[in-house]
Amino acid sequence: MCGIVGVTGSNRSVEILINGLKSLEYRGYDSAGIYVNDQNGHDYLVKRQGRIANLENALTDDVQGLAGIGHTRWATHGQPSETNSHPHYSNDKRFYLVHNGVIENYDQLKRDYLSEVDLNSQTDTEVIVQLVAYFVKENQMSTKAAFLKVLRLISSDSSYAFVLMDREEPEMLYVAKNKSPLLIGLADGYNMVGSDAISMLKETNQFMEIEDHELVMVTPDNIQLEDFDGQEHHRDSFTVDMDANAADKGAYPYYMLKEVDEQPAVMRRIVSEYFDQAGNPSVDEAILAEMAKADHIYIIGAGTSYHAGLVGARLLEKYAHIPTSVNISSEFAYDRPLLSQKPFFIFLSQSGETADSRQVLVDVNEHQWPSLTLTNVDKSTLSREATFTMLLYAGPEIAVASTKAYTAQIAVEAVLAKALGMYLADDQAQAFDLRAQLGAVANGMQAITDSKEDLEAIAARFLSKPRNAFYIGRGLDWTVSIEAALKLKEISYVQAEGFASGELKHGTIALIEEGTPVIGIITQDRTAGLTRSNLEETQARGANAITIVARHLAQDNDTIVIPDVDADLTPLLSVVPAQLLAYYTSLGKGLDVDKPRNLAKSVTVM
Ligand code: F6R
Repeated sequence: MCGIVGVTGSNRSVEILINGLKSLEYRGYDSAGIYVNDQNGHDYLVKRQGRIANLENALTDDVQGLAGIGHTRWATHGQPSETNSHPHYSNDKRFYLVHNGVIENYDQLKRDYLSEVDLNSQTDTEVIVQLVAYFVKENQMSTKAAFLKVLRLISSDSSYAFVLMDREEPEMLYVAKNKSPLLIGLADGYNMVGSDAISMLKETNQFMEIEDHELVMVTPDNIQLEDFDGQEHHRDSFTVDMDANAADKGAYPYYMLKEVDEQPAVMRRIVSEYFDQAGNPSVDEAILAEMAKADHIYIIGAGTSYHAGLVGARLLEKYAHIPTSVNISSEFAYDRPLLSQKPFFIFLSQSGETADSRQVLVDVNEHQWPSLTLTNVDKSTLSREATFTMLLYAGPEIAVASTKAYTAQIAVEAVLAKALGMYLADDQAQAFDLRAQLGAVANGMQAITDSKEDLEAIAARFLSKPRNAFYIGRGLDWTVSIEAALKLKEISYVQAEGFASGELKHGTIALIEEGTPVIGIITQDRTAGLTRSNLEETQARGANAITIVARHLAQDNDTIVIPDVDADLTPLLSVVPAQLLAYYTSLGKGLDVDKPRNLAKSVTVM
């Protein structure tokens, strides 16, 4: 994880770095730091443990510069502390480095070259910057040659995005990446680098990609890209069409609440992006043609994206009749199941950067299997490297807990399932009026988000005290139950589990005590009665039963009644009260809803 930024050629460097880091704080918030150089012989290094706000408070007026680098950390090697925070520097204080990733062979490099060097921190990153200094001094190498030598020594299983500064070349940013995300931002008279486009969007909408195993020299007026053999690469820039203000919180206390509230608008945007005037889905025919050839679809994702995949698989099987399995990327990457003859891969990823999912994509590309990434971030790594991309159009998702990306993923999967079904001449797909249904979903979401006070009261009454809680359901309701439980545990620290309600009696019911909240999700005609019985069984053992029920199945004593929509699309609605219950439980406990402990938004280490 971790977020990195760099800038050269602007006397607003400190402001640019701090703004960039603030927008990257979702990538980790164990510590933050900047190094700036005013090119008049003065340079400044400021680091603080904890949030960017701590770093900002520590900056005095004299900390100014024309170029600099910054870092916000999610600790991997070495506990969160000021010493372990970036930028790291060489003992001669000539070289400064920020890094996102993991150097797998750092210990070996340390033993091989740095046995005589006193290291200040426990990090893998410090080894790299000390090594650059070591080669410059011992081998009389230029900085570029030394950096290149170090890059060559780093083992191929390592991941990195580096920005290196040399006090003696204060205008220059030396940049390289492997597996970790990094982009160049091109502004008027100055240039930047950042872990994502949003971190630079206040300054520019012009970006340039960096490929793995390239060395890039960035100065205020030039970008020089080379491979490790010194072969120059030329690349066009591209424009990112995104409003910088879309990433602002506005009047909301937390991004999560804003993002939950944005879901009706996201559904409408998906309708406008993916349907033509006649109400037919418009999906690139090349995608459909490739998918139609497949004998099995493999959906790959992590966390919430994996949960969205569980819904998508049902939709694809129903409308396209192609067997579809859903896989946790970190498992699939190292324990690939026996595949079919003609596989097609769908990667689900809000960020488009999840390292485990990317690891699978690297393997998929090596085998030349076709793939499609569904992502919220245009030009993200998974989008660039897959055969095809479909965007989620959810707008920037900043809160660590994913909400609108989950519902956007399901909606886009539904579009894909309908389009593929129609391409394969399936009558049911033809008859499925998805455009109208997504409109109904948007209205239903609005009705649920309008009833926040009720949900806040339910959270305060049932979820604020207990140590653990359960969401239960069957079929599609089960897929939502595991997403609902993830939301609750990650931001409110209630130990929550989602269960197939029929499984409870096979062990887990032993955990039910007086007052344990058990939330039943009931939206499917076929299983409503069964889930109700399972809920009653927990009630008989002291549980506080709560229900999230589709209107046509509601009974007098149900807790939360949600509007009716097409049975296959119910996850789009039943998840919304669960998102808000998690939000209000976290809020009620006085926790930082957007930045739960130990987590980062984009998981770019494996
Ligand atoms: C949970 C959450 C995570 C992500 C997971 C995958 O709220 O956000 O579980 O879903 O880390 O991230 P992406 O979708 O960016 O690949």
